Amino acid sequence: MTGYCEILAPNETNRLRCVDLLRRGEVVGLPTETVYGLAGNALCENTVRKIFEVKGRPFIDPLIVHCDSLDSASQHADFSDLARELAKRFWPGALTLVVPKRQSIPDIVTAGLPSVAIRVPAHPEFQSILQKLDFPLAAPSANPFGYVSPTRAEHVQKTLGSRIPAILDGGACRHGVESTILDLRDPRQVRVLRPGPISPEELGLRAQVTDPGSADQNAQAAPGMLTQHYSPHTPIRLFQHGGAPVDAPASAAVLYNTRPAAITPGLNAFWLSESGDLTEIAHNLFRLIQKLDTADFTALHIELAENRAVGIAVNDRLKRAAAKR
Ligand code: TXA
Ligand code: MG
Repeated sequence: MTGYCEILAPNETNRLRCVDLLRRGEVVGLPTETVYGLAGNALCENTVRKIFEVKGRPFIDPLIVHCDSLDSASQHADFSDLARELAKRFWPGALTLVVPKRQSIPDIVTAGLPSVAIRVPAHPEFQSILQKLDFPLAAPSANPFGYVSPTRAEHVQKTLGSRIPAILDGGACRHGVESTILDLRDPRQVRVLRPGPISPEELGLRAQVTDPGSADQNAQAAPGMLTQHYSPHTPIRLFQHGGAPVDAPASAAVLYNTRPAAITPGLNAFWLSESGDLTEIAHNLFRLIQKLDTADFTALHIELAENRAVGIAVNDRLKRAAAKR
């Protein structure tokens, strides 16, 4: 694959290769338990600028900072009692906390905001890299801005492989959707800025969930949570959970949660899970959308998930993917 960077097998030599590249200010593709990240030194302004450029991301859309532990995170952000308690319960894991930033975090990371989105990822490969470094890693999802997030190393290679020196292979991402983002800036009004693998029920908070569509009017509160996002090139139409696609032509693909009881002859039917399990639906969502996007279908008709647990995150991503440009 000339012009594309190598996918590195997850062994110590290759981990050290990534560490060396990161120390030299390069950005590399790294696996997390949610999606693949485009990682670089969060404390180095030039490297962070490179992350935005490689991704084609506007500078108004801030990045998540990844640390190896709550102790390291505490050097770069201020944790209230509630923030500390949540971090202890859910880290390492798929929960990102928005908390006041410290001076060590350059303004470019947070798009000039006084708060930073920060998390300790659970993936052993990402953890191992962080532990070898003495700086945190800024890492947005490793997809071109606006496109579907990568859940396998090959997805990163296909879209950004000509712009980065390396991708570390960590297999298929366990969750398959991005982390839950919890805004803790106002203790009286804790808000889920982005639903994810950890649901509001699990958080045990009466947190308000920001609705896709409302976020654009609230740009300062939820920067970057653009209504239209996660979009494949093929147009998306959604249909109700348990329902049937409306006016799907023979040239379209229909993506169900699980194998439908009866498949209408002539329809190109696919499904995300044999069992209908929400975790499995989320795990396979972006991979199947990317696969169907490279086939020649004229549209993707996709069934919404049951609106609970990680199904809330699946529906959030689907609604954004289907939003008009
Ligand atoms: O699972 C994940 O969170 C993945 C992996 C790589 O960790 N990362 C990820 O990053 O999804 P990204 O850049 O694709 O999405 C981060 C979102 C931004 O779009 C922005 O809305 C929000 O996090 N965000 C970042 N910093 C923020 C801040 N200071 N205040 C409010 N929201 C912030
Ligand atoms: Mg993203």
